[in-house]
Amino acid sequence: MKLFENHNLKSYNTFGMEVSARRFVQLDVAEETPAAVAEYLQQWPYYILGGGSNTLFTNDFNGTIVHPAFHGIERMEEGGENVLLRVAAGEPWENLIQYCIKNQYFGIENLTGIPGLVGSAPVQNIGAYGVEVKDTIYKVQGYILSTRNPFELNNSECQFGYRNSIFKQTLKNDCIITYVWFQLSKIKHFTLTYQGLAKALEERELPLTLHSVSDCVRKIRDTKLPDPKIVGNGGSFFKNPVVPTEQYRELQVQYPDLVAYDAPNGLKKLSAGQLIEKAGWKGRRVGNAGTWKNQALVLVNYGGATPQEVLNVANGIIHDVKTLFNIPLEMEINRI
Ligand code: EPU
Repeated sequence: MKLFENHNLKSYNTFGMEVSARRFVQLDVAEETPAAVAEYLQQWPYYILGGGSNTLFTNDFNGTIVHPAFHGIERMEEGGENVLLRVAAGEPWENLIQYCIKNQYFGIENLTGIPGLVGSAPVQNIGAYGVEVKDTIYKVQGYILSTRNPFELNNSECQFGYRNSIFKQTLKNDCIITYVWFQLSKIKHFTLTYQGLAKALEERELPLTLHSVSDCVRKIRDTKLPDPKIVGNGGSFFKNPVVPTEQYRELQVQYPDLVAYDAPNGLKKLSAGQLIEKAGWKGRRVGNAGTWKNQALVLVNYGGATPQEVLNVANGIIHDVKTLFNIPLEMEINRI
C-alpha cells in the first residue's frame, strides 16, 4: 500500500482534468484492502478510482482516493468448452483482451479497446458492438467498506442492466472490487449483430478469427472515438435514452431517420449521439471543451479545459435535447 498527499490526478482521469486529491492510497495487494479501509476510509469523503476513464472530476478532491493496483490473470478451471479466469481488478482491460486472443478464449473480443481497468467493467456493465460484459462475468469478489467483510456476488446477484449494476446502486461507494471471474468459451463463436462490424469484416475479406474481429472493432472505434491519450474524454458522456414506443413514433413523424433499438418492456432505446447531433452540438466547441466531430455523444477536452467548461457543454446539450425532443438525457459518466 502506498500513500500520497496532495496527489495530482491528471494522469488518473482520461478527461485530463487538472485536479488533485488530498490523499491518494494505492493498493498493491487485494488482501490489504481491509487494513486500508480501517486506516483511511473511516471518514468521508472517499472515492474508489479505477482507470479514471468514466469519471469527470469537477473539482480538487478533498478526501481520499483509493486506487486498486492489483494485477494478475489466473486460469482457475478449464474444461473442453469453457475456461474460468480470475482477473485482478487493477489489471488493464486491454491486457485481458490480449490474453484471451492469445489463448483463443471467446466472448469479450467485441469489447476491444475500451479504456480502463478490469474492476470497473462490472460496475457499469461495459458494452460495445453488440456485447455486454455481463454475459461473461461468472462472479465478482471484493470487500464491503462499511463492514470490512469480504463479499462474493454471482452474476444474477450483480443485478446487471444497461450500463448499470448493483455496484452503481446499493453498493455505490460501499465496496472495493478485488477480483472479477470470467467464464469464456473455448468454442469458436462470434457476435456480429452490430451492422458496422459485420460489414467491416466482410469488406476486409479476412478469415473470421478472434484476431480479425478484435482488429476490426479497434478500427471502428478509432474512426468514431478519440484516443484519450491525445484528446481527453470519458467515452459516452450520456446514456442512450429509453422512451415509450409512442413517443418514438411521434418523433419519427418529424425525424424519419431516427435510430431506435428494441429495449425491454416494449420500450425503445434511442441514440443519444444522434439526438445531440440533431440539436446542433456535433463537433461544437465552447472554450476548451466540446463534443467529438465523429461522435457527438463523446464530450472532449480540447486542451486545458476546466471541469466547469465540460459541465457547461453538458448542460447546454441537456437543455437543447430536452427542448427539441422532450427527452431528459442522463449522464453516464461519474461526476465527482
Ligand atoms: N449517431 C449519430 N450521430 C452521432 C453519433 C451517433 O447520428 O454523433 C448514430 C449513428 O449513426 C448510429 C447510432 O447513432 O446509427 C449509434 O451510434 P454508435 O454505433 O456510435 O453507438 P452509440 O449508441 O452512440 C454505444 C455505446 C458506446 C459503444 C457503441 C458501440 C452507450 C452510452 N454508448 O454508443 O459505448 O462503443 O454503442 O457499440 O451505450 C461508452 O459507453 O463509453 C461507449 C463508448
